Amino acid sequence: MIEKAHHWENVYRNKSFDAVSWYAPHLAESLRLIEQLCLDKTAAIVDIGAGESTLVDDLLQRHYLDLSVPDISATAIEFTKQRLGTKAAQVSWHVGDITRYDFASKQFDLWHDRAVFHFLTEPSARRSYIELVRRSMQPGGYVLMATFGPDGPRQCSGLDVVRFTDEQLHHEFGDGFEWLGSEINHHQTPSGTHQQFLYCWCRRSY
Ligand SMILES: C[S@@+](CC[C@H](N)C(=O)[O-])C[C@H]1O[C@@H](n2cnc3c(N)ncnc32)[C@H](O)[C@@H]1O
Repeated sequence: MIEKAHHWENVYRNKSFDAVSWYAPHLAESLRLIEQLCLDKTAAIVDIGAGESTLVDDLLQRHYLDLSVPDISATAIEFTKQRLGTKAAQVSWHVGDITRYDFASKQFDLWHDRAVFHFLTEPSARRSYIELVRRSMQPGGYVLMATFGPDGPRQCSGLDVVRFTDEQLHHEFGDGFEWLGSEINHHQTPSGTHQQFLYCWCRRSY
């Protein structure tokens, strides 16, 4: 945990928000899919490993009322809070490793993860993550995952990643998650290269 936290702290302390390879001014695909899946503005939405992304700003602007933002990096969380100013008080912030986290009794209606799950190269870490999804979501809730696709990069931020097809990702989650859809997207990094992402969404059925 300390090693991982140290890695991400270093990234956010030493790189500008718009220089990291995953930077996008807005997470347009995520926003579009969240709005399709969650019409109700009272839906409890969590953005796992949000980093310094502007998804929380855009969800607040669209009047979503129950937002939670966890990340392993305290620096990233602090940066986002500063950017939001007084609006930061409307969000529930968490610092910690998602493979060891617990949201207590909180139950989410939508779980969003862009570019976090694919860093869990150990099967046991992925199992812990999915156990947390099960504990933190009611049946009927939606899980929206964006990982590197089968032709995506093998590394990101100097770390190995796992690449997924939609079948492999669905298999990771196992029974109780009903596959609803998936699409491939190509993210253009600030340096102009392209990275293949897989967006995949499902519903917790039991
Ligand atoms: C590639 S960045 C993606 C950031 C953001 N989701 C986005 O799409 O712009 C990965 C993020 O996951 C966070 N992260 C990595 N491992 C984590 C873990 N085990 N628990 C919580 N956050 C983690 C990092 O600090 C970083 O902000």
